[in-house]
Amino acid sequence: MARTAAPPRPHAPSRDSQESPRPSVARLYSTKNDLPEASRVEAIDLLNQRLADCIDLQTQCKQAHWNVKGPTFIALHKLFDEVNEDVEEYVDLIAERIVQLGGIAEGTARIVARRSTLIDYPPALSTGGEHVAALSDALAQFGRTARIGIDEMNDLQDADSADILTEISRGVDKWLWFVEAHQQAKV
Ligand SMILES: [Fe+2]
Repeated sequence: MARTAAPPRPHAPSRDSQESPRPSVARLYSTKNDLPEASRVEAIDLLNQRLADCIDLQTQCKQAHWNVKGPTFIALHKLFDEVNEDVEEYVDLIAERIVQLGGIAEGTARIVARRSTLIDYPPALSTGGEHVAALSDALAQFGRTARIGIDEMNDLQDADSADILTEISRGVDKWLWFVEAHQQAKV
């Protein structure tokens, strides 16, 4: 039986197509990396989008870690910090891959605030249930854009960036499970 082709995945969301200059060959550092220059320019641009999302996700983990209250405080306070530690590593993996490709990792707070595609974390949440709902939303959104990024890197024949995003999306899915499990019990 013939398989039906999966519908094409949309490009990962981007919010700053008009606000930020696209990386150009002029801004590219020379490198002996043999990936074609055009592929590197495009990969750098796409990875900078995911970097902004990932840094935003990290700040949301800390926001949850600091502000959660209620009977599940200590478990969630510790869990959210563990998620944060791994997400910090994902940030580093993406940023350093951008630099390996000859690009500039654009990770300042101002660029991230302008560029992130994640939903803003509501500042007034307090209960464990509220933070679980908000952080699981953020993890799921980021997991989706990371998976779209894998396809984009594969299209550019950048297997290493695809592998990095695969590692990251695998980790994010694990943390989504850990966080989401708090709201999945059937009562
Ligand atoms: Fe802390």
